[in-house]
Amino acid sequence: MWRYFSKFIHSPISRFNPSKSNSIPVNFEMGSYCATRICNLQTLFKGKSSGYSTVTSCDSFSEEKPKDNSVSDMLVDSFGRLHTYLRISLTERCNLRCQYCMPAEGVELTPTPKVLTKIEILRLADLFVSSGVNKIRLTGGEPTVRKDIEDICYELSSLKGLKTLSMTTNGIVLARKLPKLKECGLDSLNISLDTLVPAKFELMTRRKGHEKVMDSINAAVDLGYNPVKVNCVVMRGFNDDEICDFVELTREKPINIRFIEFMPFDGNVWNVKKLVPYSEMLDTVAKRYPSLKRNQDHPTDTAKNFMIDGHKGQVSFITSMTEHFCAGCNRLRLLADGNLKVCLFGPSEVSLRDPLRNGAEDHELREIIGAAVKRKKPSHAGMFDIAKTANRPMIHIGG
Ligand code: GTP
Ligand code: 5AD
Ligand code: SF4
Repeated sequence: MWRYFSKFIHSPISRFNPSKSNSIPVNFEMGSYCATRICNLQTLFKGKSSGYSTVTSCDSFSEEKPKDNSVSDMLVDSFGRLHTYLRISLTERCNLRCQYCMPAEGVELTPTPKVLTKIEILRLADLFVSSGVNKIRLTGGEPTVRKDIEDICYELSSLKGLKTLSMTTNGIVLARKLPKLKECGLDSLNISLDTLVPAKFELMTRRKGHEKVMDSINAAVDLGYNPVKVNCVVMRGFNDDEICDFVELTREKPINIRFIEFMPFDGNVWNVKKLVPYSEMLDTVAKRYPSLKRNQDHPTDTAKNFMIDGHKGQVSFITSMTEHFCAGCNRLRLLADGNLKVCLFGPSEVSLRDPLRNGAEDHELREIIGAAVKRKKPSHAGMFDIAKTANRPMIHIGG
């Protein structure tokens, strides 16, 4: 614990994080795909409890404390998937009220004393990164509403072994904050925008702000983020007529527009008629842009990626409902209240906050995390079962 505090005393913003420039062995980079396809790590680890055993390649492991570019057994599930990507929800608060995310009256928020503090987030993040996590995505609610967002970015980006620090944001206050966030080590950005029509934006988000989001997207491009990912949840009768207008954004700018299938969560307005399946969205784009070509995706990608001749950006589809991507899943979620969630759609959560506040040592936290990861299911339920069992709203489950 005390080792931890001294580590985060920091000096000037501009610094070099050597871990980000490390090249990573191909087998590691391939993450869960490699583990699932080439060997069954469960066999390798049979009889060993969670702890410090490490996977440095698919055919070797050691019992020492994890080194750079190695993945602790803690992060390997029973199906051999390596969880090297941690999403951290910094807050449940949000400055928008999107219809697909929460009901008009909002959601009950975790009381502030029960939300993880910056120090607690950093302690847990350090534990994950030293165990093999190499990518962290900051989510919410809306992560930029957290007052200590710059400090959090700075300190997370300094973690040795972390390759990528990303954020998913609604872009409302981003344009103003982005130069500082970039200096603090924010590497990549996903910005949510569901319509190009300001009046529809207000209807969907129950707030004004369309122009601010557009400004943030442009600011991100101007600051050199490449690509700037734009998340668009497609809903029939609301924005399915704008698909090709969104694709036009990719013509001149390095924008990756990502059309997302609408998912059901507690209290949102999901209904199967509003779901526009991937096949239909693809058809719409392919008809208008005959040169649309599928890219080679990374095995852990949730998006199916495409390019169009002459366009600087890309077009992608996130098919959580009609073609899930559970086999390549490499994600874990740390929620704002300190619960760990191993699957977006799974109901199970385990508190890391409580043991942390009760003085747990790192090895004890590792055991709790490792056990939760081992309980992860091979895939989530089918689309209609998800609709029936939909649990916490997006704002609570950390984007
Ligand atoms: P990168 O791939 O790192 O760019 O991020 P991402 O697309 O996973 O994150 P983002 O926060 O932009 O989420 C976009 C959409 O991806 C969400 O609306 C979900 O539809 C989907 N998504 C994100 N994480 C998961 C997950 O763990 N499981 C499933 N099924 N879908 C997810
Ligand atoms: N279905 C699909 N995507 C959703 N998001 C929020 N709620 C839903 C939903 N019900 C998206 C947001 C954001 C990302 C984290 O998740 O638009 O881009
Ligand atoms: Fe992985 Fe669960 Fe997401 Fe499927 S729904 S991709 S198992 S986290």
